[in-house]
Amino acid sequence: MALFKTKTNLSTVQAQLKIPEHIAIIMDGNGRWAKRRLMPRIAGHKTAMNTVKKITIAANDLGVKVLTLYAFSTENWSRPSDEVNFLMQLPIDFFNDFVPELVKNNIQVQVMGNVDGLPKGTQIAVKNAINQTVQGTGMILNFALNYGGQVEIIEATKAIAQQVADGEISPSDIDANIFSKALQTANLGILAAPDLMIRTSGELRLSNFMPYQAAYTELYFTDVLWPDYTADNLVEAIESFTLRDRRFGGLNDKYESES
Ligand code: FPP
Repeated sequence: MALFKTKTNLSTVQAQLKIPEHIAIIMDGNGRWAKRRLMPRIAGHKTAMNTVKKITIAANDLGVKVLTLYAFSTENWSRPSDEVNFLMQLPIDFFNDFVPELVKNNIQVQVMGNVDGLPKGTQIAVKNAINQTVQGTGMILNFALNYGGQVEIIEATKAIAQQVADGEISPSDIDANIFSKALQTANLGILAAPDLMIRTSGELRLSNFMPYQAAYTELYFTDVLWPDYTADNLVEAIESFTLRDRRFGGLNDKYESES
């Protein structure tokens, strides 16, 4: 049962919630959403794009600082080419339509993943959106596009090995700080680790999404399919986060005062 009245005004909701600074979302269930309606899978992805718009604005209004969305994984290339082509067109349509709204809301677009491996048109759309929103000082909307967590760790390891080979650092210098700077979330600084990760559609796994950064992330799974996901669903996830006791391997105040 929801603890907070999500339909009340925003400031009331915010006052009762601990807002995660960084929320990451695995947007799953587009295909099943379409199948249930006897529609082609791409209809699910099209509706999903509108959900991205709604949830971006809702997260920004709630005061989230970074919203990372898993839009295309390095494994998604194995889908039928029609579907891949459609998914590659989505960022173009999305940014064409939505950049003015992002600018109006002071939202800055960033992308992690292998952008150079995307089709030229998608690359241009992504780079334009980054440039057009670079002045945004509010929420960072961070798209994971052609992203895979294991590749990210392997590439970071190669980059650090090269620094060692070049004599810039020694192996004993390698620590979490050096590693974080070699990951694709480096420019997010202290906000690189998601506080809350949401996965829609009832699947209970991380699917190669931010495995390094998610070490202490709170996980939230919902059966709602991404095309149906609403701002109220987001608030429900944040309600759950608000009640979590994050200890990061330590003890909380309650236990400490008992000892
Ligand atoms: C997973 O659902 C979803 C994807 C692989 C694509 C996610 C893309 C979007 C939500 C749209 C992105 C929008 C922009 C602006 C880039 P699925 O197809 O695996 O669903 P299923 O598990 O039900 O088959």
